[in-house]
Amino acid sequence: MNIPQHVAIIMDGNGRWAKKQNKPRAYGHLTGTDNVRNIAIKADELGIKVLTLYAFSTENWKRPKEEIDYLMSLPEVFIDKFLKELMERNIKIETIGDLSALPVKTVKVLNTAINKTKKNKGMILVFALNYGGRSDIVNAVNSIIKNGNVNSITEQDINNHISTKDYPEVDLMIRTSLDYRISNFLLWQLSYAEFIFVDCYWPDFNGERFAEAIAEYTNRQRRFGGLL
Ligand code: FPP
Repeated sequence: MNIPQHVAIIMDGNGRWAKKQNKPRAYGHLTGTDNVRNIAIKADELGIKVLTLYAFSTENWKRPKEEIDYLMSLPEVFIDKFLKELMERNIKIETIGDLSALPVKTVKVLNTAINKTKKNKGMILVFALNYGGRSDIVNAVNSIIKNGNVNSITEQDINNHISTKDYPEVDLMIRTSLDYRISNFLLWQLSYAEFIFVDCYWPDFNGERFAEAIAEYTNRQRRFGGLL
């Protein structure tokens, strides 16, 4: 099987990774942010077209304010450190999720990066921020209704209005840290994706392990409900 076109990742385990070495959770998130760069570069090298990363869920607001504030500062940390390299690689940054609830500064930094990279024609690096799979579906349905005169809707209508409408189907979902959950990520989009759960925390999930996951994907048989 070919390289997946669209890979989505639940980057789990920053906190446990930090705890294991008696460091604060923030240190895990910071190291996890550096790792976003490593995996994005590897994905680009492997020829993946879209890499969608679950950076902050609609449920993550339940965390202590101090941790939320820190997480909200990470897009800026990431962009300051790595935007130049992403530009050189022709990578385009986009987001899904409701940015309106994020701090003004975070949104500003993200929009600047989105604008600077919008003409890039290489891999698309999508950050799912304040993202929830259920609200993604609800928003899609609401925008169909808003278009007026709707008696019934089709799957294609939802495909045309969901946040990932401009991307290829998600082929592969990877979750680190061995929790076997979707956690409200891309519920609609993962219908026929392959899932790989890896037994290391996100900061330890390096380019080599990512390449191994992609190799595992290429060995799977996808039948999409049919027969081979
Ligand atoms: C899950 O680990 C991770 C998160 C909730 C945040 C993920 C964010 C990053 C890796 C950085 C994002 C970077 C950018 C550029 C937006 P956890 O805290 O749930 O870990 P635990 O389950 O071990 O506590």
